[in-house]
Amino acid sequence: MRLLVKRRRQYTRGNANWLTTLSVLGLAWPCRPKCGKIIPPTHGLPAWLDDHLPALEGPLMPIKIFCLGDIIGKPGRAVVAELLPSLIAREKVDFVVANAENSAAGSGLTPAVFQKLLATGIDVCTMGDHTYRKRDILPLLQSSDRLIRPGNYPPDAVGRGWTVVSSRAGVAIAVLQVMGRLYMNPLDDPLRTIDKMLAEVPRDIKVRIVDFHAEASSEKIAMGWHLDGRVSISFGTHTHTPTADARVLPGGTAFVSDLGMTGPYESVLGRRKDRVLQFMITGMPNFFEIATGDPRMCGILATVDEVSGHALSIVRCDLRGTTQDAAYDAADGHGGKRQGEL
Ligand SMILES: [Fe+2]
Ligand SMILES: [Fe+2]
Repeated sequence: MRLLVKRRRQYTRGNANWLTTLSVLGLAWPCRPKCGKIIPPTHGLPAWLDDHLPALEGPLMPIKIFCLGDIIGKPGRAVVAELLPSLIAREKVDFVVANAENSAAGSGLTPAVFQKLLATGIDVCTMGDHTYRKRDILPLLQSSDRLIRPGNYPPDAVGRGWTVVSSRAGVAIAVLQVMGRLYMNPLDDPLRTIDKMLAEVPRDIKVRIVDFHAEASSEKIAMGWHLDGRVSISFGTHTHTPTADARVLPGGTAFVSDLGMTGPYESVLGRRKDRVLQFMITGMPNFFEIATGDPRMCGILATVDEVSGHALSIVRCDLRGTTQDAAYDAADGHGGKRQGEL
């Protein structure tokens, strides 16, 4: 049975030879799979083929999911473009989620930057408290199924809190986002909001990823326990500092408090350290220009069983890239953080 499941999966990834072989040998079973929702109809087997497959039960079908912490401006985009495609190929990564709230000029997202990020292999971008910093992203927040923002914004806020996108292997994956309330601007209750959104996700979509964009470790850890066994991966973003608490919780949820930053680590949260220190020492407002030194791509690589949705493993990633000369380019659009703002 395990062999057959593997073979069925190979077919869905473009290899039809096994079915031909089974048919020739008279070994193709004339019954429907009992758990036939493994492959969603829009990306999976043709209906006529489903009628000739055996019941599929039991064996693990692991897929690899890479989650990237807040991408900071041009240096963050550059390190993603430099390292992500080869990582996807080397590790056979099926799906990539990245936080993009700081990816244009360090604050917000532009359509040009969004397209550049998708071209590197990112499947879904999440946002955060900087979602609306660049207003030309509003049409994409409304129309793109690959871009979400925290679901606990007020109901009339532009955008959506969750989406479903197919992985490279044809597995439907739900990505959801909520934002914390401790030391953050007040929004609706993230715990009740995530429960409501999870109830809206179709039940047959087992692989579920939650980005909890929050400041306080306590709130993030509480969210991890709240979601344990109900989602595949629960990661935190926003602090731009990776935490060392990655683990698979008892219920089968891969958890980490914060993915860290994808951008220049010779900085204060991605901004030039001299500018931030000058502000902190003098109290005089300053422009916090994006830093360039020590660019890294930080996040986690998780293995998830696509049948049950349970996580099998989680490892932290901290990969160093090549330092860039410039902190901005034309895709950044106008503006960054306000003076004196961290
Ligand atoms: Fe944030
Ligand atoms: Fe951020």
